[in-house]
Order: sequence, then C-alpha cells, then structure tokens
Amino acid sequence: MMATQPTPSTIDDDLRVTVERITSEVVHSFDAAPDARLRDVMATLVTHLHAFAVDVALTRGEWEAGIAFLTAAGQKCDDKRQELILLSDALGLSMVVDAVSEHLPAGATESTVLGPFYMPDSPRREFGDSIAEQPSGEPSWVHGVVRDLDGAPIGGAEIDVWQNADDRLYAVQNPDLPQDNLRGRFTARADGSYGFVAVRPTDYTIPTDGPVGDLLHATARHAWRPAHLHLIVRAPGYRSLTTHVFDAESEHLASDAVFAVKPSLVRTFVRHGADDPARPAGVDGPWTAVENDVVLAPAERPARGTA
Ligand SMILES: [Fe+2]
Repeated sequence: MMATQPTPSTIDDDLRVTVERITSEVVHSFDAAPDARLRDVMATLVTHLHAFAVDVALTRGEWEAGIAFLTAAGQKCDDKRQELILLSDALGLSMVVDAVSEHLPAGATESTVLGPFYMPDSPRREFGDSIAEQPSGEPSWVHGVVRDLDGAPIGGAEIDVWQNADDRLYAVQNPDLPQDNLRGRFTARADGSYGFVAVRPTDYTIPTDGPVGDLLHATARHAWRPAHLHLIVRAPGYRSLTTHVFDAESEHLASDAVFAVKPSLVRTFVRHGADDPARPAGVDGPWTAVENDVVLAPAERPARGTA
C-alpha cells in the first residue's frame, strides 16, 4: 500500500514551525549581502518557494521531477533556442514582469512579451524596403508614425522588427533559410513616419519539441499564438518599447499560449487588390496594409537624491 502523502490540510503545526525555522534561517543567511536589492529578492524568493512547497505538500519525487524539468529546459537552450524564456512566457511570468515593471503612462503604446525568437543586430533597411528576402507570404505594408506623449514626431527612432513566415516559422528556427529573412531595423524619418513591407503574419504554435511542450501536453493546453509582428522601438531620451502588432482576424486572440494580447495592440490588416495603384514598390498581387502609430514614453529620470 502506498504511503499517504501529506496534504496541506494534514501538515501539522509542528511541521509548519519546523519549516518556518528553516525559512527564517535561509532568509537571514542573506543578511550580509552587499547588494540590498539582491538580498531582498533572494529573501522573498526563498520565502515564497518554501511556502509553495508547503502549500502543495511537495513530495521528493515531485521535487526530483521539477529539477529534471528545469535541467532539461536549460539543456534545450543554445544560441538560437531559448526554452527558459519560453517557459517564462508559457507560465505567464513574462507578462507579470511586464505588468509590474513597465508602468507606462497613459497614452503611451503598450508593451508586451519579447518572446524567444528575438535576434539582435538585424540588418538596417531603408524606408519602403521589404523584410522578406524570399517568398514568405502575402505582402503587407506596415506603416505609422512614432510620436511622443505630446504628439510630436520622433525622427530617428529605430524600429526593430521580426516576424514569422507563412510556414509559421521564424528564420532563427530554420538554419537552412536566410537568417535575415523577415527581420530588419528601420529609422523613422524626420516627421516620425516609418514604413516597410512585411508579410501578413500567421498564427503559430510555440515550440512543442522540448520540456515546455511536454508541460503543455500534460496539462491539456494548446500552444497557439495569435498572428503578430514583433517590434522594439528605441529613441534617445525615450523608454525602449517592446511590443507586438496583433492581427484582428486571428482566431487565437482570446487564448494566446503566452497571455500576451492587449486589446490596444490589435490592428486591422486592410486588404488591397493587385490593381490598387497605392501598392508598395515591388509588390505584385493582393496585399494588405496595417497602420500602427507608436507613442513612446520619456526615459525615466533617476529619483531625486540618487546617484
Ligand atoms: Fe512571435
């Protein structure tokens, strides 16, 4: 007969006192940390971690499974695969960090997750260029104006964009393809305007061939993300903005696997015919256009009295 595991309701008072003593000892072990923030973060982390183990009456086997899971997630990472960001995203932690750390003022474009597919140093491209270096889907003209909270244009702002192709993959997921496909950095013109040819993004599943996929499967969760473009918008004197442009027609807006949809970031991709004279240079056949103005918040100044 299997031994009955303790449950929260069966953990007696003596055991709770024992755990409280252990927690207290570990928390105070950080007292001499020279970095006060590190001390506080570690003390609070340990407090919550111990409370979690008590609340679920964590068994040794479950602890071992957790260690094995985190080990496998780390081992899945390399310079192009970030299973731990994926885990953070799938657990909603990335969006909690977004919520507690951004504090963007009213009127600023909202932020959302970075995701696991960002690669720095995308090629610099000119206004009107296409980020598609090979056929990758239906062309889409992405355009807008970068402004500050007062409506003044921010000329020179950098728009760093990346997206998936109609095979649902980002270039970084397929080493056989050009690694600069569907990504690029653009510079807003003096009037704050920017524009480039992308492709209409498609809904896709986050990678399920690793520990995070195993977790989704074990918990009967789907892996779909609603179609979106990724943008990071940077400008001197302003807070960098990591955000998305979501396609209003996506069927997964209400059930994003990483909980990253904010209604203010949903845009309509307007269809245009092949014979529309407004089509961007180099575009043949049907295309869409999406307008996406961006409002940046000013950079935060250090609080008075701090270095
Ligand atoms: Fe994405």
